[in-house]
Amino acid sequence: MRVPATGVGRTSPVPRDLAPLEATMQEEIRLADSNGVLTPVARGWLRSALAAPSIHNTQPWRFRVGDRHIDIFADRSRRLHVVDPRGRELLISVGAALLNLRVAMLANGRTPMLRLVPGGAEPDLVAQVIPGPPTSISETARLLAEAIPRRHTNRRPFDPTAVPPEVLADLCGAAAVEGAHLEVVDPAVRDAVLGVVRTAEHRRRRDPEYLRELAEWTVDVGDRRDGIPPEAFGPWSALEVVPLRDFGLIQPVPRRAAVEFEAEPTIALLYTTGDNPEQWLRAGQALERTLLTATVRGLASTLMTQPLELPQMRELFTVSAENQVAQVILRFGYGPPSAPSPRRPLESFLLGTDAPVRRHDR
Ligand SMILES: Cc1cc2nc3c(=O)[nH]c(=O)nc-3n(C[C@H](O)[C@H](O)[C@H](O)COP(=O)(O)O)c2cc1C
Repeated sequence: MRVPATGVGRTSPVPRDLAPLEATMQEEIRLADSNGVLTPVARGWLRSALAAPSIHNTQPWRFRVGDRHIDIFADRSRRLHVVDPRGRELLISVGAALLNLRVAMLANGRTPMLRLVPGGAEPDLVAQVIPGPPTSISETARLLAEAIPRRHTNRRPFDPTAVPPEVLADLCGAAAVEGAHLEVVDPAVRDAVLGVVRTAEHRRRRDPEYLRELAEWTVDVGDRRDGIPPEAFGPWSALEVVPLRDFGLIQPVPRRAAVEFEAEPTIALLYTTGDNPEQWLRAGQALERTLLTATVRGLASTLMTQPLELPQMRELFTVSAENQVAQVILRFGYGPPSAPSPRRPLESFLLGTDAPVRRHDR
């Protein structure tokens, strides 16, 4: 299935203020009924948003639903102080949720009008999305929307089959549409990248602060609906050919299998031009569009961000001359199905909304 990268799914150009948006709002859609209860359409859109990937499955986003717009907030109480002191990966995660929201609106025949507002008067408000004018539902919007609930991080070994160049080109196209650059690295660079990831992972394993933080997000405390559940840890890569983040350090899974991973993994780096909150939100949207495109093309994916969380190692991935900064390292391949990770109930993400959610949303 081909996923055309252009002509859909982008609020292009991204508006800087709301004035031009208001002019286009002839056929408005209400997000809540007269009693202030969220409409089913709005609930569906928000559920798509919260299916996005997030660092350690922290789900660091919140929503304030107005009559005709949705405000997206960063939930900084969920920031990872050790691996993400600047909140970079937090905003990448919020960007991924934003992309899902946009795709869900498009797949519902509405043009999402997006305004990124990091650093505005309300410090945690990062974006506002308005369901804009009706639009015809493109094939790409439909395919990407269908992929949202099917995309899961896959930490299992992938098949040795190489990913065809035209599929990799689709992934690069998806990132480019969202204003980022995806570089699939050649074997020599790949081995160097994996070497740095391995070094970062080993360094972290000796850091008590890192282990304490990892414990917070991996220890199974009964009915928690965030963090990484043991069934998503994946097997143990005996030779660490693919140095995945080891989520089983604190709470080892009994009889966790040691298996061989693919010898020639497909590795890519996602870059943005510059490194500020707006670019992190952009990176998150590009990341999620790339991951959804991979899902549509039958590919599994894993993120490996360990060296990008250590400033000196991150510098190794920066192309200073072009101001290209690495935001995420990815692995793609054909893999067995992977387990979904839990999500908190929609209700827990709604902030001071005028639209209360019914109990059955839980
Ligand atoms: C910015 C960011 C960094 C991530 N880094 C890693 C990583 O280093 N290793 C890993 O296995 N998963 C990583 N993930 C994936 C998350 O753990 C995953 O999205 C989360 O557990 C939710 O699971 P799901 O993707 O299956 O929905 C990262 C995700 C994001 C958004």
